[in-house]
Amino acid sequence: MSALNRKITLNDLRAARHTGGKLAMLTCYDFLMARLMQEAGVPALLVGDSAASVILGHDSTLPAQLDFMIELTAAVRRGAPLALLVADMPFGSYQASDARGAANVMRMVKTSGCDCVKLEVGATHRSLIQRLADAGVAVMAHMGLRPQSVGLLGGYRYQARTAQQVDDLVALALQMQAAGASSLLLEAVPPEAAKAVVDMTNIPVIGCGAGPHCHGHVVVTHDSLGLTAARPKFVPQLAELAGTLRAAFARYADDVRDGRYPQAEHDYQMPADEAEKLKTTKS
Ligand code: KIV
Repeated sequence: MSALNRKITLNDLRAARHTGGKLAMLTCYDFLMARLMQEAGVPALLVGDSAASVILGHDSTLPAQLDFMIELTAAVRRGAPLALLVADMPFGSYQASDARGAANVMRMVKTSGCDCVKLEVGATHRSLIQRLADAGVAVMAHMGLRPQSVGLLGGYRYQARTAQQVDDLVALALQMQAAGASSLLLEAVPPEAAKAVVDMTNIPVIGCGAGPHCHGHVVVTHDSLGLTAARPKFVPQLAELAGTLRAAFARYADDVRDGRYPQAEHDYQMPADEAEKLKTTKS
C-alpha cells in the first residue's frame, strides 16, 4: 500500500488512456473516508449523488441538493487534497437552462475545490458541455444508465443492449467529445458497448459496471464494503463491514445497559487537592 504522494490530475487519467494503465476511483462522501482513501493510494474519488441514497436514505438520487453536494465535496477535498476529485452535479442543477447549469457548475468548482464535475448527459447537453469547456471546466459526461432519468427509464436496467443502442451510445460519446467533455463515464453497459466507445473516442473512459476495456473503474464504496442492502453484480466485495459494525454497536449497547461502560479508565481525573476540597465542602 502506498499513499498518494503527489497531486493526481486529469493528465493522469489521460495517461491511463495512452499507456493502458488503469485508474481506480471510489465514491466518497466524507472527510475521514477521504483521508483513508488518500492514505491507501486511491488516485481518484467521486462525490456521487448516490450520496442521496447512501448517506440520506432516499430510494433514488433525485433528492440530492446542490448545497449538500458542495458540502460533501469540500469535506472530501479536505480529506484527500491530492486525489483527482470529481463532483456530481445533482438532478435539477443543470437541466433547467444552460445559463443556470453553468452558474451552478461554477459555484461547485469555486466552493468545493473539485477538479472535475460529472453530468448525466443526453444530446441536449452539448451546448452546456461546450460552454463549460470554453470556461475551462473539466467535465465528465456520464452515459449509459443515467440514474437521474430513472422516471423515464422505468428502473435501473443496464443499457446499450442492442447493436443499434451501442451505435447510439457511440454517437452520443462522440458528440460529448466534440463539445469538449474531458472524459466519459459509462454506467451499466455490456463490455462490447464500452469497447465500442473506447475504440471510437480519444478521451479517457471510466467504467461503472462496464467491463474491462475502460481506462478506469468506479464503484459505490458502501456497496463494496458490504454496508448497503444489496451489492450489484459488477461490484467487488472489498470487505464485509456491516456485521463488524453491528457487533461493535451491539457490544456498546450491551456494555452501557449492563454497567460495564464506563470504567475508571474512561474517567477524567480531578486534581487530588480539588477532589479533597469538594469532599470537605460536601461533608
Ligand atoms: O452517484 C454515483 O455514485 C455515480 C456512480 C455510480 C458512477 O454516479
